[in-house]
Amino acid sequence: MSLLKVTIDNLDVEVEPGTTILNAARKIGGRVVPPAMCYYSGLKGTGGKCRTCLVKVSKSSATDPRPMPKLVPSCSTIVQDGMIVQNITSPEVLEARKHIVEILLINHPLDCPICDQAGECDLQNLSYKHGLADTRYEFERRTFEKIDIGRFIQLHMTRCILCYRCVYLADQLTDKRVHGVLFRGDNSEISTFIENVVENDFSGNVIDVCPVGALTDKTFRFKSRVWFTKPYDAHRNCEKCEGKAVLWMSGTDVLRVTGRKNEFGEVEDFICNECRFEKKNTDDWILEGPRNISHSSVISQNLYELINEPPKEPPFNKKD
Ligand code: SF4
Ligand code: FES
Repeated sequence: MSLLKVTIDNLDVEVEPGTTILNAARKIGGRVVPPAMCYYSGLKGTGGKCRTCLVKVSKSSATDPRPMPKLVPSCSTIVQDGMIVQNITSPEVLEARKHIVEILLINHPLDCPICDQAGECDLQNLSYKHGLADTRYEFERRTFEKIDIGRFIQLHMTRCILCYRCVYLADQLTDKRVHGVLFRGDNSEISTFIENVVENDFSGNVIDVCPVGALTDKTFRFKSRVWFTKPYDAHRNCEKCEGKAVLWMSGTDVLRVTGRKNEFGEVEDFICNECRFEKKNTDDWILEGPRNISHSSVISQNLYELINEPPKEPPFNKKD
């Protein structure tokens, strides 16, 4: 199969036909990778909901050099041979991203100081890197009561950005999906029937795929801030899943267990509820060693880099 050549932020990459712009950028890595709040490579059908991954196609293909008339979602736009794409080299893209952050924050509460997701929240990272300090929104935000989803999960619909990841996960990883998004437009909300999903062995994975703090682990609630915990890779023999997880420890106490995420924040192997919620002793696990956390992560360094201006000099693929 002949590969297609694509140029993203002045860097060339060759990819197989059918690859999306986002995945071509991920092949390059580093700062040219657009942020993605709803796409999740392990879940079929995700993407196209949040618009954080918008990029500019300044040349459609080798045979059609015209630019695409509007910014396109990189997670669902397939590359063509000779395509030229701009991500952080386009002022238009950076401007659009600022306004996407503003839209996502219209209803999202700024309760990071008390949110368990703080420090590993995609929306928090996105707003620090691409956001505006102000909002023009003058109306009341919509709010919801918290909902307990069984013993282990809590839904804060107020924080939900309607990315649909938890819906696709329930569809593809559990026997039968019993929750979804009800209503349309400004009235959309995750259905309260989500309470029923807890019966499934893999329901806890909705916590890991949720990009914000809308679905949180009740066994970890308010126990610690993530940056005060030490993550360790660990595994165990499990009949239901691969048993590969991360233990978030304080001293010798296991405060929570999550799946292992890759550099794009996506879980590599989904874990079962037994591993996640019921194995909270180090004796239950074989410890492999400290987890390598990306240097740009707030968990690692409390470091953010504001990307609201195109960089002046190449290369733009500086790794974390
Ligand atoms: S609850 Fe989380 S994963 Fe589900 S749609 Fe809302 S933001 Fe996305
Ligand atoms: S990641 Fe592409 S639209 Fe959400």
